[in-house]
Amino acid sequence: MYEKIIKTDLGADVKIIDLRTDTISRPTQEMKEAMYIAEVGDDVYGEDPTVTELERRSAELLGKEDALFVASGTMANLIAIMVHCSQRGCEIISGDKAHTYRLEQGGTAQIAGVQTAPVKNKDDGTFSLDELREKIRKNPDMHEPITSLIIVENTHNLCGGKALPLDWLEKVSSIAAEHNIPVHMDGARLMNAAVFLKVTPRRVVRDVDTVCFCLSKGLGCPVGAVLAGSTDFITKSRRIRKVLGGGWRQAGVLAAAGLVALDTMIDRLRIDHDHAFKIAKAISCLNSNICEVDLGSVNTNIVMISFIHPSFTPADFAARLAETKEEDSIKVSVRIGIRQGAKGKGFTRLVTHWEITEEDVNLCIAKIVMVIREFEKRTISKL
Ligand SMILES: Cc1ncc(COP(=O)(O)O)c(C=O)c1O
Repeated sequence: MYEKIIKTDLGADVKIIDLRTDTISRPTQEMKEAMYIAEVGDDVYGEDPTVTELERRSAELLGKEDALFVASGTMANLIAIMVHCSQRGCEIISGDKAHTYRLEQGGTAQIAGVQTAPVKNKDDGTFSLDELREKIRKNPDMHEPITSLIIVENTHNLCGGKALPLDWLEKVSSIAAEHNIPVHMDGARLMNAAVFLKVTPRRVVRDVDTVCFCLSKGLGCPVGAVLAGSTDFITKSRRIRKVLGGGWRQAGVLAAAGLVALDTMIDRLRIDHDHAFKIAKAISCLNSNICEVDLGSVNTNIVMISFIHPSFTPADFAARLAETKEEDSIKVSVRIGIRQGAKGKGFTRLVTHWEITEEDVNLCIAKIVMVIREFEKRTISKL
C-alpha cells in the first residue's frame, strides 16, 4: 500500500483519501513485477506473446471468439463504432447518459462520422424497450440514416455504477436481432457488474455481439482496455486500431499487468462494493436535510450523493471535504468528483478502488459526517 500522507500549509500531517474515480488506482506490486519480467515483441506484427496471451485469456473469459488489447475504453468504443458503422450515413442508438454520447468528445460524430439517436436512460442504466423500437429505422428511405448499432453501458457510469439486469439485456438483444442490428456493450466496469450480479463475465455479455472492458479502472492496471467479439470483428478492429495510432509495439509490458488483473483483481471488487455501500449507508443513516443517498441504487463501487438543500452545492461539499482546518479533529482530506445533474441539480460521486482500505473508509465516513453536521448547523444558525 502506498503512503497518502502529505505536508500541508498548516504544517499538519494530512491523509489524502482520493475517491474521485477508480482510474487513479495504481498498479499492484504483483503487476509491477510481472511488467518487469514480461516477455515482449512487436505487437503490430503479432509478435508480442504477452499481449497475445492477454487477448486469448480475455476472449475466453468473455466467451467471444477473439479479443484485442487497446489503449483505453474510449479507443475500444470508437473502434467498435467504426467497425459496426463502416458505411456512410450510419446511426447508433444509445442511452442519453451513455459515456460514448456524453463523455467521449463526440468521437462517434467527430471521428467515426456517425450520428447518435439517444434514448432516455432510466435511473438503473436501462432504457425503454418501446422507445428503442421506435428509434430503430425500419426500411430507411433516402432521407434517413441507417440504424447500425445499439450501445448499452454496464455498469452505467452516470447512473451511479448500476449493473444492467440480465433479462433486460436479453430483450434488447432480441429486438436488435429482429432488425439485424448488432449490440455493443461499453463494459468499462463490466467486471464490477459480474461481481454484483454474482455471475460470470461471460454470462453478462452473452447477449451482446461485441464488448469492451477497461483494465485501468477498478482492475488497477496502469493502462489499457480489451475489445472482444467475433474473429471477423476483431480482424477489422485491429486495422482500425492502427489508423487511430493505437498499433503498439512491445505492449506486453502493459499486457502483463492485465494478466495479473484477470487472475487477482476481479473477485476482490466485492471489497470495493462493500466499501462503497458502507459509505453510502453512513450518509443515508444521517437523514440529513443537506444531502441524500439512495441506498438501493448502490450496486457497485460508485456512490452518488444528491444535494437537497438550496444553500449548499456539491462544490461546497467537495471543497470542505478536501480542506483541513487547524481546528478539525479529523486531519483527512477527502477528494471527490462533482457533477452537474439535470436542471442544475448537483450531485457528487465517490468511487472506491483497491487502494482504498477499510481504515480509509472509516476515516472518510468520519470526515463526511463531520462536514454534513457542520453544514446542518449552518442552516440552523441562518434561521
Ligand atoms: C462507461 C465508460 N466507458 C468508457 C470510458 C472511457 O475509458 P477511458 O478513460 O479508458 O478512455 C469510461 C471512463 O470512465 C467509462 O466510465
